[in-house]
Amino acid sequence: MIPRRTIAKLACLILIGPVFIYGIVKFRYLLDAEHEVRQGRMSLWRKTGYGVQSSSSEGEMSPSLYWKRRSASRLVGDKTKENAEEKNVTKLRKEVIMALKKLDIAKKKLHHREILNKYPYTSGKPGWKMENSSENKVGIVNKLHEKIEHSDMQKDEMGLDILETEGEIGNYFDEDDEDIEDDPNLNADVVRAVPVSHVKRYVDEPVDPHEYNYIYNPSHRCYDKDGRPRSVFLLLMVVTAPGHFQRRDVIRNTYGSEDQWPALKRGVFTTVFLLGKTFNDTQQKMIDKEAHIYSDIVQEDFIDTYANLSRKTVMGLKWVTNHCRHTTFAMKIDDDSMINQGRFLWIFKDSSLTNWTASETMLNAPVLRSTTSKYFISEEYYPAPTYPPYMNGPGYVLSSDLVESGYHMALKTPLFPWEDVFLGTCFKKMGFKPVYHKRFLWIPNPQFFTLNSERTIVSGIRPYIVISNLQPNTMEFVWFICKIKLIRPV
Ligand SMILES: *[C@@H]1O[C@H](CO)[C@@H](O)[C@H](O)[C@H]1NC(C)=O
Ligand SMILES: *[C@@H]1O[C@H](CO)[C@@H](O)[C@H](O)[C@H]1NC(C)=O
Ligand SMILES: *[C@@H]1O[C@H](CO)[C@@H](O)[C@H](O)[C@H]1NC(C)=O
Ligand SMILES: *[C@@H]1O[C@H](CO)[C@@H](O)[C@H](O)[C@H]1NC(C)=O
Ligand SMILES: *[C@@H]1O[C@H](CO)[C@@H](O)[C@H](O)[C@H]1NC(C)=O
Repeated sequence: MIPRRTIAKLACLILIGPVFIYGIVKFRYLLDAEHEVRQGRMSLWRKTGYGVQSSSSEGEMSPSLYWKRRSASRLVGDKTKENAEEKNVTKLRKEVIMALKKLDIAKKKLHHREILNKYPYTSGKPGWKMENSSENKVGIVNKLHEKIEHSDMQKDEMGLDILETEGEIGNYFDEDDEDIEDDPNLNADVVRAVPVSHVKRYVDEPVDPHEYNYIYNPSHRCYDKDGRPRSVFLLLMVVTAPGHFQRRDVIRNTYGSEDQWPALKRGVFTTVFLLGKTFNDTQQKMIDKEAHIYSDIVQEDFIDTYANLSRKTVMGLKWVTNHCRHTTFAMKIDDDSMINQGRFLWIFKDSSLTNWTASETMLNAPVLRSTTSKYFISEEYYPAPTYPPYMNGPGYVLSSDLVESGYHMALKTPLFPWEDVFLGTCFKKMGFKPVYHKRFLWIPNPQFFTLNSERTIVSGIRPYIVISNLQPNTMEFVWFICKIKLIRPV
């Protein structure tokens, strides 16, 4: 008689045994596979220089890359097929490069999604409200962007072909007679500009010899440690108000950073921020800190007000003339403006090194006579119905010789409240006429970003070189979305 206990033991063995053996076999198999993968990876790395030796970066690897590398291990066993292997390895190497590229794009997209999550379109109020933003206008802009999108798709990615939409854009953004309110938070230090009353006419204004003292002057900015001039391709002069700390940070992380322009061979991009004096001590203390950390603050002791913007531009021209004369180009840009990296460098393709500008040039721009307009100028003060040709203020590029001659002319010209018109006046006196550059600047309504789909937004901003009137969160978004659209999966 077999004891019942033994039967139970046997039954257990029969049931559990196979599972146990299967487990061991599987475990061995996994160990082998792991070994094989390690071997393969090492060998691939030795042969091609691709792939990482340590397994700690496994988390970074895409599954397809993992399997590519794993299959690579199969190639190295048989020494008699060396040549065929070489060919396969070359092919594999190409695939690995491809996979790495795809991984890179995926990471960038992920980063973009993070930014989108951080700054959804719908969060935050628009910076200013349009008094007359009817649905009709939204309809027009949608149609306009559909048209651009459609037409862009048929064109070369980088093509600078122009659509017949200038007129429509002009219609939509004709906000001349509207009183646009400043966002009280963003522009607390902005004073509405009205020409001073004790001077009857612009031509009778005294010239300003611009004898202000620097509070901060990063005069080493365009030189290296040994005092040799750095090869500077573009000096960005960012016009910013003392309180705009967030905007300056966004710019330091986007177009204002040298690291963001790695492919540049003709020299670096470097950035300075232009500020006047503030009476807010808390603010000045924060600026002190900023200036010490980044060494990119140029501050003079004229009062920083909206009406003093022309003085700020003169300060920028003066600083470049004295401390960065060797730059190839200089660009004045407002701190609410963003550069479209995908288009930007193309403006330099056929650029001359002297006597050259790029901007949205305003020709025969009317002087605004409506007293409610932010840009009101009275007839007594400035009788001419139109302004001289000028480069629209949010962003313009100058060859460095024009910076210098513009600066010297500015010291002999009465200041005008609008800095862009002022520089236009100086250029007119110099006999220089800036050329018109189509699709240089776009000033969208903030609602454009809240009311439209991502696709419409992307196709709307992509044709332009500078996009202005943006909130800090939208600035970052515009930068990354233009960057992402630049990188196409291969
Ligand atoms: C090279 O790859 C092909 C398929 O891609 C395969 O059939 C062939 O066996 C490989 N040759 C060697 C030597 O591994
Ligand atoms: C909006 O503009 C139209 C003309 O463009 C004008 O007739 C209308 O009165 C304006 N509405 C408001 C609320 O200002
Ligand atoms: C001074 O500046 C700080 C920082 O920008 C700001 O929070 C504060 O409200 C300002 N004070 C006044 C009186 O404007
Ligand atoms: C511009 O700055 C100067 C010099 O600090 C100052 O005297 C003047 O009041 C300022 N003008 C305006 C309109 O703020
Ligand atoms: C620059 O252009 C102006 C006309 O726009 C011309 O008169 C002047 O001679 C040019 N200067 C140089 C250095 O080419």
